Amino acid sequence: MVRIRFKVNGETKSLEVEPNELLINILRNRLGLIGTKYVCGIGECGSCTVMLDGEPVLSCLTLAVDIDGREIVTVEGLSTGDGLSEVQRAFIDEGAIQCGFCTPGFLIMGEYLLKEKPKPTEEEIKEYLRGNLCRCTGYVNIIRAVKKASDLKHAGR
Ligand code: FES
Ligand code: FES
Repeated sequence: MVRIRFKVNGETKSLEVEPNELLINILRNRLGLIGTKYVCGIGECGSCTVMLDGEPVLSCLTLAVDIDGREIVTVEGLSTGDGLSEVQRAFIDEGAIQCGFCTPGFLIMGEYLLKEKPKPTEEEIKEYLRGNLCRCTGYVNIIRAVKKASDLKHAGR
């Protein structure tokens, strides 16, 4: 076992992990952060995406030992206080959620995109979300939601 220390959603954690233990299993099974979804398990769907030091990573392909000394943000860390983030609000408003398995990954990537490109074009939205698969809603509502979140952020709401 290896001891790791890291921050998740602003809280410092210390855990003993197996050298081959995956980040997604730490998040879901040991920290109770079940918002991050395990879907394909082979890096194909994007549902397990979390932020690692501000960059998106697939937690189904990331070893827990590799987060030692680093900072994770999961979907649970996106809301501000008891309010939803603009991206979360826009996904609800635009009907971009159905079963919800893909949603945490889209929300993380949506937040990342708007940090990198506050006013993205439709092409840029498609480019950033190309690694995230949704089987339910299609992508029209999701793209519309990201555009709306950009507008909400600019309106300062
Ligand atoms: S569960 Fe990680 S990419 Fe699908
Ligand atoms: S809402 Fe079901 S997979 Fe996207």
